[in-house]
Amino acid sequence: MGLFYFFGNTMSNLMSNYSPLDVTFTSGSGCWLTDTSGKKYFDALSGVGVVNLGHCHPKVTESIIEQSQKLLHTSNWYRIERQEELAVRLCELANMDKVFFSNSGAEANETAIKIARLFARQKNIDMPVILTAKESFHGRTMATLSATGNSKVQAGFSPLMSEFIHVDFDDVEAIKQYRNNKNIVAVMLEPIQGEAGVIIPQKDYLNEVNAVCEENDWLFILDEVQSGMGRTGKLFAHQYNNLTPDVLCLAKGLGNGVPIGACLARGKASEMLLPGSHGSTFGGNPLVCNVALRVLDVFEEDAILDNVNAISNYVNNQLKKNLKDSSAVIQIRVKGLMIGIGLDESTIDCTKLLQKALEDGLLINIAGNSIRMLPPLVITQQEVDILIKKIIKLINT
Ligand SMILES: Cc1ncc(COP(=O)(O)O)c(C=O)c1O
Repeated sequence: MGLFYFFGNTMSNLMSNYSPLDVTFTSGSGCWLTDTSGKKYFDALSGVGVVNLGHCHPKVTESIIEQSQKLLHTSNWYRIERQEELAVRLCELANMDKVFFSNSGAEANETAIKIARLFARQKNIDMPVILTAKESFHGRTMATLSATGNSKVQAGFSPLMSEFIHVDFDDVEAIKQYRNNKNIVAVMLEPIQGEAGVIIPQKDYLNEVNAVCEENDWLFILDEVQSGMGRTGKLFAHQYNNLTPDVLCLAKGLGNGVPIGACLARGKASEMLLPGSHGSTFGGNPLVCNVALRVLDVFEEDAILDNVNAISNYVNNQLKKNLKDSSAVIQIRVKGLMIGIGLDESTIDCTKLLQKALEDGLLINIAGNSIRMLPPLVITQQEVDILIKKIIKLINT
């Protein structure tokens, strides 16, 4: 105990909510990370869908340096030029009217939930209810974990906010059955469920839900914290459906590693927040907005979406070709560079895979009985070949 203390058990001063793998990274470049011993790892997770442009993208790094030499932070009590510019850019890209900037995905979703409550007030609904999906993930604050359709995330935190009803994902009938319920104010969904292991709904599901929302004057809230920012091959996943939600939540890849979230809204939803009704000390400060603007530039300058679409096809074909005879693989789900490999737990022990992958220099995630991968969007074909080799080895040996 004494010796342990002497050498500094630095972990012991951290609360126990994470159980990190025993590895520390000291540097990164593109899809690769290097640990304290110099060993290299292929990062097929991008810090859980965050460093979409790869680690230490030179233009992102430059934007951090440039802004940090000018001004890091003032306050939302004064106008912030870069924030206003970012709001214009995002609204143009997403066909939305207004933006609130936060520091994380959960806070962006929290904003959406507050907007839905204010919308309910306007409609004289005292006990508003939002429909969300089973197996969804919306964050760890009290409101967003209540919205989340996963009892593991909620365990120990009751009483939950009672305003959420969880319905089956990818089943519009499950939503339609609430049409006569006067308390429903919104439907909140991930276009593709990420934490659940990359669950891709049928092609028209979002359009059908959108139509139900329009018919009933419910807000349609899309949580694109994970599926947004190019992850699926379009800037936002809902663009595959040619629709515009009332509220759109972003975070993760928007700052490529600097903490920024955004809640975008259009029409009536964009008019709900009034002075004093919401805020954030750090939200949308000059640093994070300058970086997010540069991230958007890089999407255009480096044709990131073209790469995602080309590589996505290649990954899909290679995975299907190489894993078709593997008894452990049940299903391969790929949309852009959101990749899920469903495994048969009677054939393979999923609990061992994280550590096994780590030893082979590969970072992935296990979501239930699926391998989830969210590699950087700048991944090359040669890097896909390396990744596929590691995945085949992981599953087949
Ligand atoms: C779809 C979705 N929503 C919300 C969140 C929460 O985001 P954050 O961890 O930035 O609060 C996540 C995080 O994984 C997510 O995937």
